[in-house]
Amino acid sequence: MDIRFDGKVAVVTGGARGIGYVCAQTMVESGAKVAIVDILADNLAEAVKKLGQKGEVKGYCLDLSKVGDIAPTVSKIREEMGEIDVLIQAAGILAGAPADKITEAEWDKVMNVNSKGVFFMMQAVTNQSMIPRNTGSIVNFASIAGVRGMKEPMCSAHYSASKGAAVQLTKQGAVEWAKYGIRVNAVAPGGVLSEGMKNAPPEMMKNATEPIPLKRLSKPEEIASGVCFLASEAASMITGQILIIDGGGSVVGV
Ligand SMILES: NC(=O)c1ccc[n+]([C@@H]2O[C@H](COP(=O)([O-])OP(=O)(O)OC[C@H]3O[C@@H](n4cnc5c(N)ncnc54)[C@H](O)[C@@H]3O)[C@@H](O)[C@H]2O)c1
Repeated sequence: MDIRFDGKVAVVTGGARGIGYVCAQTMVESGAKVAIVDILADNLAEAVKKLGQKGEVKGYCLDLSKVGDIAPTVSKIREEMGEIDVLIQAAGILAGAPADKITEAEWDKVMNVNSKGVFFMMQAVTNQSMIPRNTGSIVNFASIAGVRGMKEPMCSAHYSASKGAAVQLTKQGAVEWAKYGIRVNAVAPGGVLSEGMKNAPPEMMKNATEPIPLKRLSKPEEIASGVCFLASEAASMITGQILIIDGGGSVVGV
């Protein structure tokens, strides 16, 4: 099966770095025109420069926690790149803190991006571009922390709550927008081998990977391939689903 997005426009939030960048790269390599939305202006410019060598890529600097700025940014993307077929929402704040230490400001910061921003981005893209054309595919980023409890030191009540909200927003969006031919799914990654984790001490890495049946963390490319599958016509009958990508960790309760 060759998954292609030729002639399609995809918006990738959080695509300036990390897993979102790899999603943007996979989409552009699969033929999509890609709009990358991110708060980090320098990383965004660098990503657009690199990925622009592979296809049509534009960057849009936006803080997703500023809800009033979301709809105008979506309008600008439509004007400059065309109607939006695919929305991939990788933007997120990774946070870790024990429950007794989380402040109200930290709670709001995490929820505003990982939950509120995710909803209002879906609302803007569906209202402006997908509902009027009766088509579209959305893939949100949940996390294994959004579907089950996490042991110390990985615990983080605000992050877990925000990703649990992403799960429910995905299911609710799938139900409400199905009548417009719009599918909404999410990926729930377990540990991913990020740039930071590549330099982690061997003991820490051993502890993180030993209990996982496949004995390693996911590569960003392995998350991106799940995302692009869900976004594509190959998943045309799949909606409201949360695809856990964790090497089997959740099956054995890691
Ligand atoms: N890395 C992991 O192990 C892991 C595990 C499970 C889920 N996830 C989820 O995967 C997604 C990507 O994670 P990552 O590891 O690549 O993280 P990352 O920090 O490298 O990338 C996140 C991106 O989101 C952007 N972003 C953050 N706040 C924003 C805002 N207010 N407005 C616009 N953009 C904003 C950042 O600038 C960054 O480019 C996140 O949603 C994260 O919660 C990651």
